[in-house]
Amino acid sequence: MTHGRNMETELRTASGMRPTGALHLGHYFGVLKNWVELQEKERAFFFVADWHALTSEFEHTEPLRHNIKEMVVDWVAAGLDPEKCTLFRQSLVKEHAELSLLLSMVTPVSWLERNPTYKEQQQQIVGKDLGNAGFLCYPVLMAADILLYKPHGVPVGEDQLPHMELTREIARRFNNLYGSIFPEPRAMLTKAAKCPGLDGRKMSKSYGNGIFLSDPMDDVRKKIREMFTDTARMRRSDPGNPDVCNLYPYHELLSTEEERAEIRQGCVTATMGCVDCKKVLIGHLEEFLAPLHERRGALEARPGAVDEIMDAGCRKARAFASQTMEEVRGKMGL
Ligand code: TRP
Repeated sequence: MTHGRNMETELRTASGMRPTGALHLGHYFGVLKNWVELQEKERAFFFVADWHALTSEFEHTEPLRHNIKEMVVDWVAAGLDPEKCTLFRQSLVKEHAELSLLLSMVTPVSWLERNPTYKEQQQQIVGKDLGNAGFLCYPVLMAADILLYKPHGVPVGEDQLPHMELTREIARRFNNLYGSIFPEPRAMLTKAAKCPGLDGRKMSKSYGNGIFLSDPMDDVRKKIREMFTDTARMRRSDPGNPDVCNLYPYHELLSTEEERAEIRQGCVTATMGCVDCKKVLIGHLEEFLAPLHERRGALEARPGAVDEIMDAGCRKARAFASQTMEEVRGKMGL
């Protein structure tokens, strides 16, 4: 693959995730679904951002290897197809480190210090040492991850917008200094897909309120059955309110419009109980999760399959990234 005319006109996208543990429905509807759709339309590079995980977890590296593997299995289960997109691990493509270093030369420390995500996390995350240079430089590494693949857009969650802004600023500064190499990629957000956790708070592993892509169906059924709905609806004969119900947002994600109309009507008139409403949802979750479980089973039945996927992906990513780096070194006079 050379940077020919084809390379200038093809649509490309790149994105990554930190390997912090099993993925849940919030990840799926927030970001992964978008990735799965993009692999059909564009040349897509998706990577496990293991160096980014280290910026805050450098004291606890034991779970890293396991989490990296688990993330790739979750990805493939979710429908990412290594034949259609490039799946790899950031730390195995050293060009990410080289570009990060070079971009750090043109990035003022003040840009990094005033990054809202940085300030917020410094203040909010207690009990973790975030005074390391690697954490401050998190967005520089992220800019490198992205710009290496010269994408027009980056599918991420809303929380990543400050980082995307910095990526564009760094690209602009670089282009002004050395000549245009990089695009200024935009964030590609999914249409507000609200996927709260089982208790109505944001779905998060640390809250213990998640439905995981790897949960066996029996666990999923149990989680839904035990879920609180509209807490003001004490008896079956009380009318409920879908707008304050913890369960209803899942119908927004998984049920048809007609079903939603029926549920809404049944709930507010107390003609449908929460047990029946949950049955409809469980049916949809079964349908949704069945192909994911099947792909997971197939992958896990092939020992070494994850490593093969990563090796092949790393080779493809490196081939592209190394060409970008030649161009970068040339422009910078190295
Ligand atoms: N910061 C992202 C997250 O926390 C992970 C990430 C690292 C990333 N490098 C990236 C996302 C490049 C998009 C593009 O999820």
